[in-house]
Amino acid sequence: LKQILIDADTGIDDSIAILFALKRPDVRVMGVTTGFGNTTARQAAENSLRLIRLAGAPYEVPVAVGATEPLAGNWKGPDPHIHGPNGIGGVELPPSPQQPLEEPAWAFIARMAREHPGELTLVTLARMTNLAKALEIEPDLPRLLKRVVFMGGTFHAPGNVSPVAEANIAGDPEAADRVFQAGFDLTMVGLDVTQKVRLTTDHVAILDKYAAPENRPIVDYLKQALPFYFRFNRLQNNCLDHCPVHDPLAMLAAVDPSVVTVRTIPARVECGGSLPGMVVADLREHPIEAPGVSICVDVDSRRALEELLTTFMA
Ligand code: BDR
Ligand code: CA
Repeated sequence: LKQILIDADTGIDDSIAILFALKRPDVRVMGVTTGFGNTTARQAAENSLRLIRLAGAPYEVPVAVGATEPLAGNWKGPDPHIHGPNGIGGVELPPSPQQPLEEPAWAFIARMAREHPGELTLVTLARMTNLAKALEIEPDLPRLLKRVVFMGGTFHAPGNVSPVAEANIAGDPEAADRVFQAGFDLTMVGLDVTQKVRLTTDHVAILDKYAAPENRPIVDYLKQALPFYFRFNRLQNNCLDHCPVHDPLAMLAAVDPSVVTVRTIPARVECGGSLPGMVVADLREHPIEAPGVSICVDVDSRRALEELLTTFMA
């Protein structure tokens, strides 16, 4: 059983990643922590609690609220035009009786890592602020966590918030750079691969047709939430009824690394200048002294989609 901690800014693609993890029989979700990004950290926690209820998880999944702004303290606010007024396309899911923990996200991550040394994979689907703060209070975190798999950054593909940067890294470059330097077993699932995997309206129709009866509420939710995301991708990126699969692919790569091809390269994150958040991978023969990051450079797109979608089917 793969024991996974999820850190998310629970928007539309985060929600698919969370539901997928909750439904994979070989995964146990040990907790969800939230931060600012697609929506506020508090709304992301509310969304996560409702999604956990929607999935009918047979065990309790603690949820902890985290960072409300990047380390440098300059958040511009949520992205309602991408992920809707509440982060999940405006869909009103039934509330959960469960409350978020009193403990902040970073304290929860550090405590869980100490309680389960070498066992937990942390999958970050948002800014790495919570992880950077957890590292501050537990410097041994790179040894205590088994792996960190993150959705973010780009190696050779164009950026999505600047020519060279992806939103999760550009949203808190200082946090990302601290994580890059800390010595985690670190896998980057960036735009090089997430832009290659495309979810289409046809896929949603297939899901609708073959949904397992117990997953009907999940599929009904996706049918309501995804059109919002398709619309944004049509207006912003000229996508005709399709969208990239960012966060769900990171979750899948954590659970089944065989869908991606990686190259391990020393890398840092650009924190200054006019294009912050660029992942700078050093391809020279004698590179900078920085830990190697396992950068996903290719993906078996067909298999990734099949694995993601059939998880919800009968
Ligand atoms: C990333 O940014 C967020 O909007 C998405 O949820 C994803 O994590 C893509 O750049
Ligand atoms: Ca996200």
